[in-house]
Amino acid sequence: MIPNKKLLLLPGDGIGPEVMQEARRVIDWLARTERVKFDIAEDLVGGASIDAHGVPITRTVIARAKEADAVLFGAVGGPQWDKQNFDNRPEIAILQLRKELGLFANLRPARVFDALADASTLKPEIVRGLDIMIVRESTGGIYFGEPRGIETLADGSKRGINTEVYTTAEIERVARVGFDLAAKRGGRLCSVEKANVMESGLLWRQIVTALGARDYPHVQLSHMYADNCAMQLAKNPQQFDVIVTSNLFGDILSDLAAMLTGSLGMLPSATLGAADASGRRHALYEPIHGSAPDIAGKGLANPLAQILSLSMLLRYSFDMQEDADLIEAAIEAVLAGGLRTPDIMQPGRAKIGTATMGDSVMRELEKLA
Ligand code: IPM
Ligand code: MG
Repeated sequence: MIPNKKLLLLPGDGIGPEVMQEARRVIDWLARTERVKFDIAEDLVGGASIDAHGVPITRTVIARAKEADAVLFGAVGGPQWDKQNFDNRPEIAILQLRKELGLFANLRPARVFDALADASTLKPEIVRGLDIMIVRESTGGIYFGEPRGIETLADGSKRGINTEVYTTAEIERVARVGFDLAAKRGGRLCSVEKANVMESGLLWRQIVTALGARDYPHVQLSHMYADNCAMQLAKNPQQFDVIVTSNLFGDILSDLAAMLTGSLGMLPSATLGAADASGRRHALYEPIHGSAPDIAGKGLANPLAQILSLSMLLRYSFDMQEDADLIEAAIEAVLAGGLRTPDIMQPGRAKIGTATMGDSVMRELEKLA
């Protein structure tokens, strides 16, 4: 007997719960149509957890996330928690999950749906058909490097410190993810750092170059400085297939790449750990949009990034390629039919809210299945 797949849902704050509710309908449909058997648990994270337990994530939830086959995460944060201590902010939940589950490879696809090529702030001919994958290192670099802190100097003024650090092993394992993805996609990997000013960037370049020559001679490897990469993403994004980069550069470049597609509300992400001997790996899936407190509770949020995060989950954690394809086709069909949440609204299209978007996806799913 195949054991049930253990799924942990962490809706979080703001629009998180609203968009998760729509993804949940797809999850229930997958179970109802007997494509997969789930054991589903749900828990608090972010501000919701601060309100209930005083901390952005409890040890219990971390333990549950470790036990789960996959975690589907919504979004965290909001103005009501702005006064929290720096190390008790809602965002700590996500950083702690990445660190404690060893989720070092953050996969951020930026893909333009045909129906949305006009929604981008860039000219449609620049972005039509765009499909790039950014692999962002997510448990190291300046986000976690020591020393860090704010210290008081002798004259009473202060000094803020963060440290960019990468080891051979950290660079190699994330680069490997980039090479493997490139090999399955367009065969091209662009490694991004600032080897011209940072030693950690120089080491990054050396390690990636050596790994490529040794294990991936069939992948076309290029290198780019992070500032140039930002410019190239805005100028000619189609030149990229897979980009691999550090935690901080990946944070920035993935927001830029996301915006090329016209809507943050459309983009999912996966954060993966190392596979164990049985091939099992910790994994967390989340939309890249935040908690959008300004529109929370109004039924306006676009649930498609959350639903696409579920489809990534099926692909990467459960190897359910057909079901993931089905969900993506249903979303394409809804968009082709002209339905739009406000974030992707275009002239001549029909503006709908979160639940109606969910309804439409369900209808298309049933039609396509
Ligand atoms: C992201 C976010 C997070 C990050 C924040 C919320 C901690 O911006 O996932 O890109 O900086 O990693
Ligand atoms: Mg970010």
